Amino acid sequence: MKKRYLVTSALPYANGPLHIGHLTGAYLPADIYVSYLRLMGKDVVYVCGSDEHGAAITIRARKEGVTPREIVDKYHALIRDSFEKIGIAFDIYHRTSAPLHHQTSQDFFRKLLENGQFDEKESEQYFDEEAQQFLADRYIIGTCPVCANPDAYGDQCEKCGSTLSPTQLINPRSTLSGSAPVLKPTTHWYLKLNEHENWLREWINTGKADGVQLHDPAAWKNHVVGQCNSWLEQGLQPRAMTRDLDWGVDVPPELPGAKGKKLYVWLDAPIGYISATKQWALDNHTDWEPYWKSEDTALVHFIGKDNIVFHCLIFPAILKAHGEFVLPVNVPANQFMNLEGDKISTSRNWAVWVHEYLEELPGREDELRYNMIKNMPEQRDSEFTWKGFQETTNTELVGNLAGFLHRVQVLVHKNYTGVVPAFDINREFKSGWDAEKWATFDTEVHQVHLKLEEMGREIERFNFREALRILMEISSAGNALLQFNEPWKLVNDDPELVKVVLNLGLQYAAVLSVAMQPFLPFASARLRSMLNLAPLAEDRALLDIHNELAEGNPIVRPNHALNTAEHLFTRIPDELIEAQIQKLQATAAAGPAIANAQAPAPEKTAMPLKEMIQYDDFAKLDIRTGTILEAAKVEKADKLLCLTVDLGFEKRTIVSGIAQHFSPEAIIGKQVLVLANLAPRKMRGIESEGMILMAEDAEGKLGFVSPESGWPAGSSVS
Ligand code: 2FM
Ligand code: ZN
Repeated sequence: MKKRYLVTSALPYANGPLHIGHLTGAYLPADIYVSYLRLMGKDVVYVCGSDEHGAAITIRARKEGVTPREIVDKYHALIRDSFEKIGIAFDIYHRTSAPLHHQTSQDFFRKLLENGQFDEKESEQYFDEEAQQFLADRYIIGTCPVCANPDAYGDQCEKCGSTLSPTQLINPRSTLSGSAPVLKPTTHWYLKLNEHENWLREWINTGKADGVQLHDPAAWKNHVVGQCNSWLEQGLQPRAMTRDLDWGVDVPPELPGAKGKKLYVWLDAPIGYISATKQWALDNHTDWEPYWKSEDTALVHFIGKDNIVFHCLIFPAILKAHGEFVLPVNVPANQFMNLEGDKISTSRNWAVWVHEYLEELPGREDELRYNMIKNMPEQRDSEFTWKGFQETTNTELVGNLAGFLHRVQVLVHKNYTGVVPAFDINREFKSGWDAEKWATFDTEVHQVHLKLEEMGREIERFNFREALRILMEISSAGNALLQFNEPWKLVNDDPELVKVVLNLGLQYAAVLSVAMQPFLPFASARLRSMLNLAPLAEDRALLDIHNELAEGNPIVRPNHALNTAEHLFTRIPDELIEAQIQKLQATAAAGPAIANAQAPAPEKTAMPLKEMIQYDDFAKLDIRTGTILEAAKVEKADKLLCLTVDLGFEKRTIVSGIAQHFSPEAIIGKQVLVLANLAPRKMRGIESEGMILMAEDAEGKLGFVSPESGWPAGSSVS
C-alpha cells in the first residue's frame, strides 16, 4: 500500500475550448479516482494545467491573427473555468508558460545533459523558404505512410494514431505557406531513447525495473500495454528534444548553439506535472519532493489513448534518465468517445463544448458527468448521443436515484415531521416483522456495506462505469425496500414497521450522499443539505461510513432533523434535446469558420493573480518613465504601432500591440512606463527594444500607465 498519491490529468493544449471527449477521456476518471481517495482519507495531490507551448498554440495564433500569448491567456482562462464549473477538483491548475515551469524544464534538461542522455546531432530537416522557418511537428503535413490519410501531421497521424516524424510523410507540404519544403541542416539534442528500450520493455511487461517490482502489470489496461509493445517492437530511435521555434521554453541559454532553439513540447509538457506540484507545494507551504521522489508514492497518469506513448515510454525514460524520480504505477488511458455516430472533430465543429453545455443546460453539471461516466470509453471507443443522454437522465437519475431519495424524505416529513424515526428494537410488528425480521435491518445494512466495498474496489481498478453501476444498485435497493414494504400503506396498521423502513431508507440516503460524491459532486452537496448533514470537506467521510457500517451502526441517528426535501434531478424535456441536435447539425454544416467564430471569450471576471514571485524576481525588471516622440502604424499588421520613445538617456524603438486601441496621432507626447531591460525582439522585421506597460480592464480595454505629468523621462520605477 502506497503512502501517498500523485495523480495527473493530461495537460490540455490551450488552443481551443474543452469538449466532452476530453472530459470523459482524462479528467472525469481522474476526478472520480481522486475524490474517492480523498474520501478514504488518503494523501493525494491532483495536478493539471494548460499546455501552452508547441505548434498547436502557434498555429492557432496565426489563424486568429494574434500572438501565442493572447491565445494561451484566452483558452487557459476558458478551460480552467469549464473544469471548475463541471466540478473537476484539481489541487492546482497550473500553466506551462509560468516562469517556474520554464525553470523546472530547463533544470531537467541540464540534468539529462549532465547524465549523458543526449547526443547533439546535425540533421536535415524540412524548411519553408517562403516563411523562413523550420517545419517541426504540426507545421508540416503530408500523406500518412501507414493509412494514406493525406493530412497527417509531421508528428502524428490523427486518423490512424501513428506517431510519425516529418521525413516519413509522403508529399510533405508546409502548413505555413502550403509550399513544398526543402531540407536544410540544423543541430538538435537527441534523447538516446534506444538505450532505454530494454528496461522499458521489461518494466511495461513485468512491472519490474532494476529487479524491483514497481507495479502489477495485470492492473494495466490491455490496450495500453499493447500500444507500448507495438512501439517497442519497431525499436526505439533517438528522438530530438529541441526545436527551431520562437515560442516555448528556451534551451538553457548557457549552452553553445542554444540560440533560437526551444525544448520540444513533449519534453516540457509532462514536466509540467512536476512544476505544477512544485507550485502547489509553495502555495501550501509543504514539500513537493516526496510526491515525485519517494518510493511510497503512487504516480498515476490519466490520459487519452493518443498520449500513451509519451506517458508510458518517453516520459518514463526521461524520469529514469534524470535518476531521482518515481515511475508511474499505472497509466489508465481511455479510448475515444464519438458523438452521434461520428468522430468528435474540432475542425468540423462536431463536438459538444463544455462551456456551451454549462451555459445552455445550467444546473445540469451532474447529468453530463453521469452520462460521461456511464459511457466512458474505458476499454473501447464509446458513443454519446443526445437522445441517450435524455433517456439515461430521465430513467436513472430522475426515476431511480432522485425518485427514491425524494420518496423517502417526503415520507419522513409527512409521518415524523422530518425527524429520523427511532424504533423499538424489542417490539413485535403486526404485519409480521417479528424478531426474526430484525435480521433484515442488519442484513440490509450489511448489503449496503458490501456494495460500497465493491464500488471502491472497482474505482481502485479504474473501472468507473462498473463503479457507477454499483452506486446505482444501492439506490435501486433503496427503491426496492420502499416498494416491497409499502410504508405509505402501513402508517395506521403498523407504525412501528414504518419507522424501521424509513429509518433504513434514510441510512441508504446518507450513504448515497457520500458514495455519489466522486461521480455527482453537485447532487451530493444538494442531498447533504436536504438531509441536514455537514458538507463533505477535506475529510474521510467514506472511510468513516465503512467503519460505522462494519460495526452495524447507523449513519444518521434517530431524532436528527432533516431539511426540506427537493427533487435531486428533474426530467430533460424533448425540446431541449431537439435544440441541441439541431445546433450540432447546424454548426457542423456551417463549417470551421463558425466553429472559430464561436470559440468563446472567457467570462469577464477579474484575471486571476499570477503565481507568487520573490522580490529578487521583481528587482530584475528595469522599468523607466519615458515619452512617446513618434508613432506610426506597422505595415500589414493591424494590431501594431511602431513607437519612438525617449527614455531621457536614449531613444528606443518599441513595437506595441495597441493599434486597435489608439491612433498614432493621439498618443504622441504621452508619458509612459517602459520595461527597458526586456531582450530585444523582432516583430514584422522591426527590432523592438522594450515594452510599454499598459493596464487592461475586464472588457479588454487598454489604458496607459503614466507617471505624474511632467515627470522627467528615464526615472526608474520600483
Ligand atoms: O495531447 C494533448 O492535448 C497534450 N497537450 C497533452 C499533454 S499531456 C502532458 F504531457 F502534459
Ligand atoms: Zn495514418
